[in-house]
Amino acid sequence: MLTSFIFDLDGVIVFTDRYHYLGWKQLADEEGWRFDETLNHQLRGVSRMRSLEIILEHNGLRFSEEEKKAFTDRKNGYYQSLLDSIGPDDLYPGAIDFVKQVRARDVRTALGSSSRNAQRVLEALQIDALFEAVVTGHDLTRTKPDPQIFQLCAERLGGVAPAECVVFEDAESGIAAALAAGMHAVGVGDAEQLPNADQVITDYAEIDLDTLIATGRIR
Ligand code: BG6
Ligand code: MG
Repeated sequence: MLTSFIFDLDGVIVFTDRYHYLGWKQLADEEGWRFDETLNHQLRGVSRMRSLEIILEHNGLRFSEEEKKAFTDRKNGYYQSLLDSIGPDDLYPGAIDFVKQVRARDVRTALGSSSRNAQRVLEALQIDALFEAVVTGHDLTRTKPDPQIFQLCAERLGGVAPAECVVFEDAESGIAAALAAGMHAVGVGDAEQLPNADQVITDYAEIDLDTLIATGRIR
């Protein structure tokens, strides 16, 4: 029996994953680095600095800590400019209704996002009240696939057992983090990009909520 549902934010509740991609793409184009959608999938769920390092490794480049900080600040500036015009059209279709249905069953809800911009996105879309606990990049010392983020969610929900939690994730790193925490995991998005998720949805309507709560399986 599941008592707690934990949601990632970018790519699960809102299509801000697209804006992270565009932010990195602008930086990479300006610097003449190779960067494409395939590489971008590896950045899903991981911290800002780790994302930069993955891009640099892919390009065979090395920079000082100071230079890397300047690059991540630049990318964050581009990302935040895109957030200025975020609105309801950016919400993942059906996600908010799904979270509301979950809450109507007396199931606990938490948000677990690696992003240090998560609170801003929640407030801009006025969806922060949907989550009883919120863990963001500001709370973390280790990035996904480390389970720290979801362990902290469970702790903030009052210490629920991992086996009673299901995590919704669009990132391979996030699926790995959920499984490492001993939680159930549902992939959101393209099944080909989530080979380690044994359950993947593209539409929240694919989920039979009663079955999920009772068994941890989506149908
Ligand atoms: C995750 C995104 O949610 O947050 C990653 O999937 C991003 O792409 C990470 O790098 C950190 O985000 P931010 O907003 O702190 O740079
Ligand atoms: Mg995500």
